[in-house]
Amino acid sequence: TSQRRFRIAAIPADGVGAEVVAAGRTVLDALAAASGGAFAFDWTEFPWGSDYYAEHGVMMPDDGLATLQDFEAIYFGAVGWPTVPDHISLWGLRLRICQGFDQWANVRPVHFLPGVVSPLRKADDTELDWVVVRENSEGEYAGLGGRNLSARGAGGEVAVQSALFTEVGCERIIRFAFELARTRARKKVSSVTKSNAQQYGMVLWDDTFRRVASDYPDVETESVLVDAMSAKFVLHPEDLSVVVASNLNADILSDLGSALAGSLGLAASANLNPERRYPSMFEPVHGSAPDIAGRGVCNPIGAVGSAAFMLDHLGLHDEAARLGKAIEATTGAGVMTPDVGGTATTADVTQAIIDHL
Ligand code: NAI
Ligand code: MG
Repeated sequence: TSQRRFRIAAIPADGVGAEVVAAGRTVLDALAAASGGAFAFDWTEFPWGSDYYAEHGVMMPDDGLATLQDFEAIYFGAVGWPTVPDHISLWGLRLRICQGFDQWANVRPVHFLPGVVSPLRKADDTELDWVVVRENSEGEYAGLGGRNLSARGAGGEVAVQSALFTEVGCERIIRFAFELARTRARKKVSSVTKSNAQQYGMVLWDDTFRRVASDYPDVETESVLVDAMSAKFVLHPEDLSVVVASNLNADILSDLGSALAGSLGLAASANLNPERRYPSMFEPVHGSAPDIAGRGVCNPIGAVGSAAFMLDHLGLHDEAARLGKAIEATTGAGVMTPDVGGTATTADVTQAIIDHL
């Protein structure tokens, strides 16, 4: 039988991104080595990020997307470093890839891992197992607007930042959320907006949600305003299954969710182009963590969990499940980095995951 080879682009980028991508690659290569030659990964690593910016004045080359188009998936670390303004680094690399490749669905699960203690006492004995589905192509991150430095004279600068909502964009992410809910034990979709205050785009979202919901009578629904939903995350996590929200709201809620589950360092995510016209991108939820970068103590589990999503996307479903179990066995055995109260290093956790495979 012939070996299946997967061409993967690795973009570690900045800060702990390099450490967690290295960890994830080690785990994936160990999995491939154990497959008895059934599959292997052909990695190409790109040095794009804030150091690249210092040298070239851009976060990635102009033809970067054309280069990435040939890969089956992209494995991403994190972008952002104090030497480059955050809006330049984020727009120049991560958002450019997400939007350029129409990775319109950003899937971010939140659940407890064995042995990890939630910072919220109440949450420890509450069920917490949900998926944040983030609209990833438009909304508040459409990049529409401008600054007018001169219109009103010195000190009178004006800026406009508009959010873009299209019926097509709303419908596809909402439908995605309903399809995902059907695969889960709890068949429920919670839609999040702020449509009382934002009366155009978010009312379009709400109307679309109501219309799409009628195609899924077997799925329970609710519409919750984002401020109320942030309280609900804390007080009633057991009442959530799939949470679908716009780009900004889901970005905020998924950091809150991963903190409730123990640490931002645990949270995995997939940026999917569900039509598979472009490569999808797999990355931890967290950023480049300059406060702990370079010390070998960052938590690799968010990145390794994202690698499990990548396996699923590549059709390696058994391997993805095995990797999930190995992560659980590792935290269950108490091998954890300082962000979740342990003393293990990034390398210790990585090795423990490999041992449990
Ligand atoms: P951050 O997620 O980098 O860090 C927030 C806190 O979580 C810090 O205390 C950090 O030490 C901790 N943390 C993050 N990842 C961790 C890990 N793997 N293990 C243990 N602890 C971890 O967010 P922050 O500080 O707001 O942003 C830092 C930089 O990252 C900025 O330049 C920002 O623009 C960028 N950023 C990039 C993202 C991306 O590439 N997807 C997402 C969020 C922020
Ligand atoms: Mg974020």
